[in-house]
Amino acid sequence: MNTSPIELNHVTKTYGDFKAVDDISFTVPEGTVCGFLGPNGAGKTTSIRMMLDILRPSSGTISILGARRALDVRSRIGYLPEEKGLYKKMTATAMIAYFATLKGVAGGEAKRIAGELLEKYGLGSFQNHKCEALSKGMGQKVQVLASIAHDPDLVILDEPFSGLDPVNQGVMEEVIQDIRSRGKTILFSTHVMSHAERICERVVIMAAGRLAFDGTVDEAKSLLPRRVRVKGKGAGAALEQLKDVTHSSPSSDGREGVAEFQLREGADPQQLLKCAFEQNISLEIFEVVNPNLHEVFVHLVGEEAREAAYR
Ligand SMILES: Nc1ncnc2c1ncn2[C@@H]1O[C@H](COP(=O)(O)OP(=O)(O)OP(=O)(O)O)[C@@H](O)[C@H]1O
Ligand SMILES: [Mg+2]
Repeated sequence: MNTSPIELNHVTKTYGDFKAVDDISFTVPEGTVCGFLGPNGAGKTTSIRMMLDILRPSSGTISILGARRALDVRSRIGYLPEEKGLYKKMTATAMIAYFATLKGVAGGEAKRIAGELLEKYGLGSFQNHKCEALSKGMGQKVQVLASIAHDPDLVILDEPFSGLDPVNQGVMEEVIQDIRSRGKTILFSTHVMSHAERICERVVIMAAGRLAFDGTVDEAKSLLPRRVRVKGKGAGAALEQLKDVTHSSPSSDGREGVAEFQLREGADPQQLLKCAFEQNISLEIFEVVNPNLHEVFVHLVGEEAREAAYR
């Protein structure tokens, strides 16, 4: 059986009595983009550092690209650490090329790749700027490009979107999708659910050191019921009768007069439309609302996130 690029098996990391990571197991299959989610302090960075052999697990085992130690396959890994920083006096091109040469790319080729990457992702005119002259977001983009310039098979990015403006967040999504399109595997941590929802096939969600969810984005969304919002004279009362189809839920919609129903599992929203039609109710609004990843995240780990915030 082929091993997956990332495999964690009952991994725990303790600091004294405190379990920063508590018995987590998951795998990331080859060629997937996996979002690594969880509230502040959940244990994402600690887990990532263990994957990269920067920290040793207190117990459990990790396999990276089939190796027991990430160091043995380091030239096939790209890594963006949580604490970002560049060599201030180097130019953007030199910085990216330098990181590529550390991972085995020949000097001339590394420089060519660096120029190409900067051009491709909107930093062409900054090739010869010293890193100290770059804005924070530009510097972060350069650092991401430096981490992938050697065309690694596995890319691990700890919060690649933090500090980027909306346009550059889009560029970062593009960078990740381009890596994915070459068949590579990517794991990235983020607090922004919309990125994960748009570009990930899978998500791993941690909370308070433990695994809260591991699966596809669609599986995550299916943890919450779909909802239907309706507006129309008598619509709320009429649809309330369809107890085997829905149950009313507090409206998550600020609009006046809009009633909201959760669809029971397997229920078809058309049944509600049919009911309204049969009762001669004219509908101003009829919306089927699919749960998004943000809602699933809050549902799974909202309490832990609040507690951590007040600890
Ligand atoms: N060296 C350390 N000594 C003691 N506790 C630590 C150490 N490193 C991390 N921790 C604790 O482990 C927990 C997990 O931290 P970690 O940095 O992995 O969280 P995270 O999920 O990356 O959070 P964030 O989203 O804020 O980056 C936190 O409670 C943190 O305080
Ligand atoms: Mg972190």
